Amino acid sequence: MNKTMKRNPSTFAVVTFGCQMNARDSEKLVGILETMGLTETEEEQADIVIYNTCTIRENANQKLYGHLGTLKKRKEKNPDMIIGLCGCMMQKEDTVAYVQKKFPFVDLIFGTFNFHRAPEFIQRLLAGERQVTEIWDEPKEHVEHLPEHRKYPFKGGVNIMYGCNNFCTYCVVPYVRGRERSRIPEDILADVKALAADGVREIMLLGQNVNSYGVNFMEKETSEVLKDDPDYAFPNLLRDVCRVDGILRVRFMTSHPKDLSDELIRVIAEEEKACKHIHLPVQSGSTDVLRRMNRHYTREDYLKLVDKIRKAIPDVSLTTDIMVGFPGETDQDFADTVSLVEEVGYDQAFTFIYSVRSGTPAAEMEQLPQDLVSRRFQQLLEVVRRRGAEVTARFTGKTLPVLCEEVNPHTPGYLTGKTEHNITVHFPGDSTMVGKIISVRLEECKGFYYFGTMV
Ligand code: 5AD
Ligand code: SF4
Repeated sequence: MNKTMKRNPSTFAVVTFGCQMNARDSEKLVGILETMGLTETEEEQADIVIYNTCTIRENANQKLYGHLGTLKKRKEKNPDMIIGLCGCMMQKEDTVAYVQKKFPFVDLIFGTFNFHRAPEFIQRLLAGERQVTEIWDEPKEHVEHLPEHRKYPFKGGVNIMYGCNNFCTYCVVPYVRGRERSRIPEDILADVKALAADGVREIMLLGQNVNSYGVNFMEKETSEVLKDDPDYAFPNLLRDVCRVDGILRVRFMTSHPKDLSDELIRVIAEEEKACKHIHLPVQSGSTDVLRRMNRHYTREDYLKLVDKIRKAIPDVSLTTDIMVGFPGETDQDFADTVSLVEEVGYDQAFTFIYSVRSGTPAAEMEQLPQDLVSRRFQQLLEVVRRRGAEVTARFTGKTLPVLCEEVNPHTPGYLTGKTEHNITVHFPGDSTMVGKIISVRLEECKGFYYFGTMV
């Protein structure tokens, strides 16, 4: 070790912003830092603080800047602490330039493609480099078998693919996560089996668009499964994962409506362990807006798909993402979105105000006035809440298996868990039941969640 080194970090914290992809990357980053002999601790006490950032909307960027303002004061008191930034936001050159100028106390910047190199970056800082910035603009190395530290003992995410090829005109993801590439089935199934052996009961298969799993495989030539079945695709994978012993539930995220196949619907219907829940982002109910978003489906295509799913999987729960205020959205376009929400009857819908992302095609289009968009957003929120509560109430009085996830932090003596439909249920119970699947009668529907009792 370098004798002149002042810094001698022993603890770290990884703070995650954004989606499940980032959450999953953070689990790996934590595992990697632990193999360096560092111990995870609270952010306030950590010698090394790394923010895994999101840039899907501008408010994600603003949130990070707010946190950096606070960190600056800590760093003034403790100049030896290491502050690192990684993740999606760091894949944008203009953002990195801004961060370096405004927050010069940040020691380390890396991106989405090279977080497995974190130990090397930290060693360079410890050896005396004042600032390390290393961003790759593509995945130059594919690394399997990274260590990881899972957040929950009984459920785990597994990446089945990385990146995105869809180029929706509003979205920054293809630019910060690169082209779509799928892992071979052997690697995924090995992960799932290892998780099962480690006590995991629920698997979440992760990809930006799981329905195009298998279009572009990495290391295809090494796969025996693909030699036997060159058409191996997501329905095959879902079936294989469901059949791993020890696993009780399988979820996946996210599905693009343009290529959700009949075969996939059949597998979800047939495989008992496949959760009867599909997150199917619609974005807008207007065919014209969908076309300008480059979504490759019409309002009618989407409604037909919903119909088909409902016929094949009774009681299925559907959730979605909807955006308001896309450039050029007319009153009629917005009315089409509202009527689609009424018609489909989502269990839950995540609503967003369109946010300009530099470098995307929609950023060049004429933007709508903010006050109009805010009014539309409020209106949509009300419809989504009312319809969601009506639809979710269909389970009142039913007894369903619930995976107990945690002791309820607010109500002593209560547990919180999820049905396979991803509906939250609070019910009396004790900590020994966490991680188990319990039969619960759903008694009182409170909109998006239930109170129930064990039976
Ligand atoms: N502005 C607002 N919402 C966005 N999303 C993606 N890009 C943007 C943007 N520029 C939403 C979409 C997507 C979800 C993850 O985030 O609804 O499905
Ligand atoms: Fe996730 Fe997208 Fe945000 Fe990146 S930009 S963290 S992929 S939501």
